[in-house]
Amino acid sequence: MRKLVVLLTLVVAVLALSAVIKVGVVLPMTGGISAFGQMTWEGIQLAHSLKPSAAGNEIKLILLDNRSEKTEAANAVARAIDKEHVVAIIGQVASSHSLAGGAVAEEKHVPMLSPTSTNPLVTQGKKYVSRACFIDPFQGGAAAVFAYKKLGARKAVVFTDIEQDYSVGLSRFFMKAFTKLGGKVDVVYYKTGDQDFSAQVSLVMAKNPDVIFITGYYPEAALIARQARQMGYKGYIMGGDGLEAPELVEIGGKAVEGVYLTTHFNARGAATPMSKKFVKMYKEKYGKDPSALAALGFDAYLILVDAMERVLKGNPDLVNDLQGFRDALAVEIRHTKNFEGASGYITINEIGDAVKSVVVDVVKNGIFDFAGIVNPDEIPH
Ligand code: PHE
Repeated sequence: MRKLVVLLTLVVAVLALSAVIKVGVVLPMTGGISAFGQMTWEGIQLAHSLKPSAAGNEIKLILLDNRSEKTEAANAVARAIDKEHVVAIIGQVASSHSLAGGAVAEEKHVPMLSPTSTNPLVTQGKKYVSRACFIDPFQGGAAAVFAYKKLGARKAVVFTDIEQDYSVGLSRFFMKAFTKLGGKVDVVYYKTGDQDFSAQVSLVMAKNPDVIFITGYYPEAALIARQARQMGYKGYIMGGDGLEAPELVEIGGKAVEGVYLTTHFNARGAATPMSKKFVKMYKEKYGKDPSALAALGFDAYLILVDAMERVLKGNPDLVNDLQGFRDALAVEIRHTKNFEGASGYITINEIGDAVKSVVVDVVKNGIFDFAGIVNPDEIPH
């Protein structure tokens, strides 16, 4: 009897010590850029199956859909915090969504880690919002270097989606770097959801550039490529990470063959031992090659858990102090150093941004083939 009591006391004590850590995941699961949300979620779930707990505490993922909308992006973050009392949030994909949601997370002092939002403003002036990816001054610079030096382009026309902070920023950074290298740039504008790009393409035909650079997302980029090719444009077409979804090829067909794009990861150019492990695991589970979104979703989750473990190692009781845990975690995320992720070795600096190489892809026979790497020191300042 006495033994039983001792045993029961022990069991109760252990249960009391380990808690359930809730993590909110806010992604575009439906709406315009749902392909991004689906791929990111696959990567996060894979990482969760690899590491389902932090310092002995079970991690529970709570998925919330932002429906590819800015208002919902903010609402979903508020819901995750106020209703679910999450310790941290992984999200979001589009920079405009991370800006809207990040403002809420910052105000409520809840750490948010974006896997893929690249606009510099996402983390600017914030303590609680960090990211696992590089930022657009670098991505735009890398694209400009690639266009100018590797493709020999001297004249460019940039397509800017004025509704997306990501697109507006990336256009600006590309233009700045391309002109600095000696190139000439014109810019045309469109909006998310547009279907007809004939006015913009007419201008392209009049300018006859060596390259058109599309800084928006895949749904419009695929249509722009189609309409440009239909109207007889023969030059290069390039874009940023926003083009990387199989839907680009599904919608764009032959018109997107040969499109170059800057991104974060390519399964054919594994950067670390973890990249290889990730590609193998992902293929086994989902039966296809992983995208940059899947790789960064995977990395964001593991970076977060790693930071949790560092926090709890010093102070295991914090797991029962929700706000204390959040505050410590926000700081610790920015102490991430040389973390071996699927997308490379990741260091998050004191302002919440990761510094990493840019991968260049080319669409070849309908798939995203590896075309090269641009390192941080190759960008003109
Ligand atoms: N970088 C994009 C943004 O900030 C999001 C994105 C990343 C989309 C990677 C696709 C692939 O809006």
